[in-house]
Amino acid sequence: MSIRIAVLASGAGTNAEALIEASHRNELGGGEVVAVVSDREDALALERARSHGVEGVFVDPAPYPDRDSYGEALLKELEARGVELVCLAGFMRILAAVFIQAFPSRVLNIHPALLPSFSGANAVSDALAWGVKVTGSTVHFADEKVDHGPILLQEAVPILAGDTEESLQMRIKAVEHRIYPSAVRAVCEGRVLVEGRNVKIEGEH
Ligand code: GRF
Repeated sequence: MSIRIAVLASGAGTNAEALIEASHRNELGGGEVVAVVSDREDALALERARSHGVEGVFVDPAPYPDRDSYGEALLKELEARGVELVCLAGFMRILAAVFIQAFPSRVLNIHPALLPSFSGANAVSDALAWGVKVTGSTVHFADEKVDHGPILLQEAVPILAGDTEESLQMRIKAVEHRIYPSAVRAVCEGRVLVEGRNVKIEGEH
């Protein structure tokens, strides 16, 4: 029995695609991406999903007055599809507590910086503006605070002379497309132990 995964994405969906491709190559340790869910009807992420034969689901936030009711609506869609693991990949909304609580230690997020540095929506440009020499990407469990939960994997990306937001983002995404599937695989294979903020992955240093 596979572990049914939904990817939530608002934008380009390159991470969603990397997870779908890994899923189709059976590289997610029994995990299977069954749907990409978006709050934007025109998200490229939905198109990418459909082009790989994966269901793309638009959940319109407009009819819902607040975060909780939208969270409930998302939950319903996921429950209808038997989803057990949620991967946030550029989903540009804060999720309701009720959503996070419905999937204890089963919501992952990827963030384009080495958390806790540069949390928030502008991590790549913030790192450039700060003048750091190294940034990177973080895969972590999502909790009720933004970009906050226990960290599964991180990888550094050096900032090069002449980097623009676009060039740096491209190199970060190349790393993300590798580390997100490997974090998901570790979770699906049951190799992840969470003790407070500390996460141990069996078979990793
Ligand atoms: C990624 O860089 C991810 O770290 C951040 O949003 C971006 C999404 O990119 N949370 P894409 O839509 O997967 O191409």
